Formats: sequence, structure tokens, C-alpha cells
Amino acid sequence: MRKLVGLVGWRGMVGSVLMDRMTQEQDFDLIEPLFFSTSNAGGAAPAQAKNETRLQNAFNIEALKRCDIIITAQGGDYTSEVFPKLRQSGWKGHWIDAASTLRMQDDAVIILDPVNLPVIQKALIQGGHNWVGGNCTVSCMLMGVGALFKAGLVEWMSTQTYQAASGGGAQHMRELLTQYGTLYAEVKTLLDDPKSAILEIDRLVIAKQRSLQGQEIEHFGVPLGGSLIPWIDKDLGLDKQREEAGWGMSREEWKGMAETNKILGQGPGFGTEAIPVDGICVRVGAMRCHSQALTLKLKKDVPVADLESMIAADNPWVKLVPNTREATVQDLTPVATTGTLRIPVGRIRKMAMGPQYISAFTVGDQLLWGAAEPLRRMLRILLGT
Ligand code: HSE
Repeated sequence: MRKLVGLVGWRGMVGSVLMDRMTQEQDFDLIEPLFFSTSNAGGAAPAQAKNETRLQNAFNIEALKRCDIIITAQGGDYTSEVFPKLRQSGWKGHWIDAASTLRMQDDAVIILDPVNLPVIQKALIQGGHNWVGGNCTVSCMLMGVGALFKAGLVEWMSTQTYQAASGGGAQHMRELLTQYGTLYAEVKTLLDDPKSAILEIDRLVIAKQRSLQGQEIEHFGVPLGGSLIPWIDKDLGLDKQREEAGWGMSREEWKGMAETNKILGQGPGFGTEAIPVDGICVRVGAMRCHSQALTLKLKKDVPVADLESMIAADNPWVKLVPNTREATVQDLTPVATTGTLRIPVGRIRKMAMGPQYISAFTVGDQLLWGAAEPLRRMLRILLGT
């Protein structure tokens, strides 16, 4: 009999990407889907439904308990409210979640199977049933350079991120584009006149940016179009429970080390030393691809060609970009990567600090490998297909 798979949050941005990918990969052929809704219970389920054609109430524990597997992209608040009640009710099914709420719990595995299938398999054998997608930045980074970690070559890594608007949510993407439009409208007449003075255009743009207010900056809080924001998520310094993480660190930055190590099955909880991972996370005006500039200190001097071969051979999606100007500007960008499962990795070279220091740059679609793809692949692992 086909497994009954509950889908929650399938209409949101991550959920929609997930539905598209599941349809493309014919995942629905293998399951009986049961669609849930937080607002429209009783309404018609989407076209992928088979026997279960009505939307179920996503807060109804009895309805959720029918499922063998539940996949949710509904968000952290939903997980916080429903998951404890569902487990307390005795439900033993598999919970696959895009939200960060459960990620660091001991009984949850951060799923990124091209990188940590052995960790997932071990947890399955031990009876695990909580599977959580990783932070998008961490997942995209490990899809790119995971080979170096798996080979035990990394002493530490520093990552400076260039994170897209989509990491904040759909409304953030709209806000970014609206700001770009507002700025363009402000100077269109001058732009159309090739003889106009660029410093006059610049003066008008900065004046407009500084005057944005209310709804124009509702989601990011400050202008992002034509600017950047070097802080993502909460300030852990204000979170007394996380004082050990260090004052002045953002939650996004904290996740870099905590999640990288947990995905790899090392560090606290595994009885081994954690690999230091740290850097500054920055929001930039890209749409849905997160990029990262990496500095790695290796445990030994390895020729660049060997590092490139290891990275290229690690998984079918990683795409080594030769460290040339032409290849880099063509292939190592959000524009080249958006909407694909490719993870380009380039700019690999030895740095001036010494032969054990290398640079790399990587890009990934944060809605695909950073969110939806690991969830549907976990479903396939559970289905044994
Ligand atoms: N926290 C990420 C960001 C997105 O804001 O870009 C999801 O992991």
C-alpha cells in the first residue's frame, strides 16, 4: 500500500518549489498525498491529489495522525505549535520539516543526503523519525565544498555570505524589486539623457534611498535595493540562553558552525571536536541565490588541481568553474544558477597567507538545495526508492 504523506505549507514559496520538484520527479506516483491547510480546510486539494481530494485542517491532530509521513514547509510557528502535540498523542510517523525549530534537537537529523547519507542511515537504523532541512546557506555551501570536509582536510573555514532577498521570504523579494523600481523611476529622465551628469543621478538615488519609509522598507527595515545589510536574523547577544555563542554574533552566523558540524555528524553530540566555521552573513540585492566567499585553512598543503578534482567528483550537482575571468563571470553568479540544481564552485586558489590557505566561491539556489530538494529526497529515502 502507498504511504499516506501529509503535505503542509505546500502553497507558500518553499512549498510551491517543493510541489514543482515533486511533480517533476514523479514523487506523487509513489505516495498517497494528503493535503493540509491552515486556512481553507474542506476546500479542494490540488491536482496532485488522488483519493484524498479535500484539504484537511493542519491543526487537527487526529487528521495528522493518519499520515505515515508528514512534510511541512509551513514555518517555525506551525512546527512549535503542532509537532509537540502530535508526538504527545503517540504519533510515530516521520516528520520532515523545512523550519529551523527542531534542527538542533538531539533526536533530529539535519538532512542533506548527498553530504550526510551515512548520518541519515545511521539515525534511521536507530529509529529516528525527525528530519529537518538545514539552513539554506549551510546546505548550499556543503553541497559545494563538502568533499573537503568529508576528506578531513579542513582545519577551519571562514565564510562571507551574499544572501538573496528570498531568504527573508516572498514579501522581501517583492520589497527589493519595488525599491529598485522606485529608484529607477526617480532618475529615469536623467538616465534617458546621455548628457546628464552621473553625480546628479547618484545624488537623487541616495536621497530617494534615504527617504524610503513605511511600507517601502516594511520587511527589511532599511533600503536593500542599491545597498546591502550586513546582519541577518536575530542578535544572539540579546539572547541570554546563547551567550556562549559570543556577543555580537547574528543567529545566521551561529548556524554556520553549529549546523555544518551537525550535518557532518561531528562536534557536540557526537563526541568529537567541532570544526570552526565563522564569518559575516550579508543580505544583498539578489533574488533567490545565496553566494559565499570562503577561506579555508587546510590541515595540509594539497595542490589546487587535487582539490578541484575532489570537489568536482563529490556529487552530480556540483559544477567546478575554472578560475578564469571569463568562466567566473559567466557561470559563478546567481543569474546563471537560479532555478537550477547546479552548485557552481570557483575562484579556487592558494592565498597569500600560505600554501594551506585556499579561497573558493560558491552559489546555490536557496529555494532548491537550500530548502525544498533535501525534503523530497528524504521522502524518497523513507520510501526506499
Ligand atoms: N535564514 C536564511 C536567510 C534563509 O535569511 O537567508 C533560510 O535558511
